[in-house]
Amino acid sequence: MRKKIAVLPGDGIGPEVIEQAIKVLDAVADRFNHHFEYQHAHVGAIAIDKTGNPLPEETLEACIDSDAVLFGAIGDPKYDNDPSAKVRPEQGLLRLRKELGLYANIRPVITYKKLLHLSPLKEEKVDGVDLVIYRELTSGIYFGEKGRDENSAFDVCFYKTEDIDRITHAAFQAAAKRKKKVTLVDKANVLESSRFWRSRVRELAKEYPDITLDFMYVDNAAMQLIQYPKQFDVVLTSNMFGDILSDEASVLNGSMGLLPSASIGIRTSLFEPIHGSFPQAAGEDVANPMAAILSAAMMLDELEMTKEARVVRTTVKHILEKGIGTPELNAKYKLHCSQVGDMVAHLIAEDISLDIGEDRLAEKISTII
Ligand code: IPM
Ligand code: MN
Repeated sequence: MRKKIAVLPGDGIGPEVIEQAIKVLDAVADRFNHHFEYQHAHVGAIAIDKTGNPLPEETLEACIDSDAVLFGAIGDPKYDNDPSAKVRPEQGLLRLRKELGLYANIRPVITYKKLLHLSPLKEEKVDGVDLVIYRELTSGIYFGEKGRDENSAFDVCFYKTEDIDRITHAAFQAAAKRKKKVTLVDKANVLESSRFWRSRVRELAKEYPDITLDFMYVDNAAMQLIQYPKQFDVVLTSNMFGDILSDEASVLNGSMGLLPSASIGIRTSLFEPIHGSFPQAAGEDVANPMAAILSAAMMLDELEMTKEARVVRTTVKHILEKGIGTPELNAKYKLHCSQVGDMVAHLIAEDISLDIGEDRLAEKISTII
């Protein structure tokens, strides 16, 4: 297959982790006979520096014109302490979400046995966690009417039927391929928009008789995610609640550097590691590229290259379970960001297994990287 991919590395560690994801995509292309054509474009603080605009028109055009968007990270300390600055890197991302109609943000969280000790929770609480958050991404309080005068301010949480319906279908379809459970997280004891969500979701659930639907208030969900995260399969929720809960869920498995995301659009979809731009580590070659690599795997799934996506995920898992990784994983074999990328790419291109004795493993690693 031939696919056009817009590559938006962004700020901080974005460029270096995206470089690794591209190495891996190239290895996939080699092995499975595909052709990926990349079009690089700026977004975020670097785009502001170059053009004054966090999402320049040519970047938006490159995205619209491609089959998928691979996104790094945005943000720079010079904007962090001034949330009211007129031009900010986040505006680029929010506008991109709206322009591409990225209505569903999907954030899977799984655990790796070898890394359980990194979790802030007890190992037995997190061992076996396998959940995915479906966060509505183009409506709600983020995009509702806003206003301010001298003595007051407001942000409206507004939802239309179609905003709720399309992500609800996506969530139920995902649950059908997983553990067959959807939990709608809301604040229906207080908010009218939540009561509206409940009635729509309850109605649509009738089309999916095999899926169990349950409801949870967001304050309780915040607690349950810590107390008993294994109960969750697909968590369906609105924009703001999803923003908060997905950050909470992202620490369960011990490293944010392992978590990918997909934002499904009406036409083009966007794939992005969930970690931020981590400016302190930029250019140091220590960032964990696995989240970006796994985001590329989610992209392959969306491009209907399911087998290829599976190979990427299996390879990543295999490497992590062998105790190989970037320094923050406390790995037995500590590699740089670029070396992790080389290793994943090499194992995929050559279809090599690491199923060898511990004594030969170190030797093998040194020949690969
Ligand atoms: C995220 C981020 C964004 C959000 C920011 C950068 C606007 O936190 O992708 O979760 O709030 O959606
Ligand atoms: Mn967030």
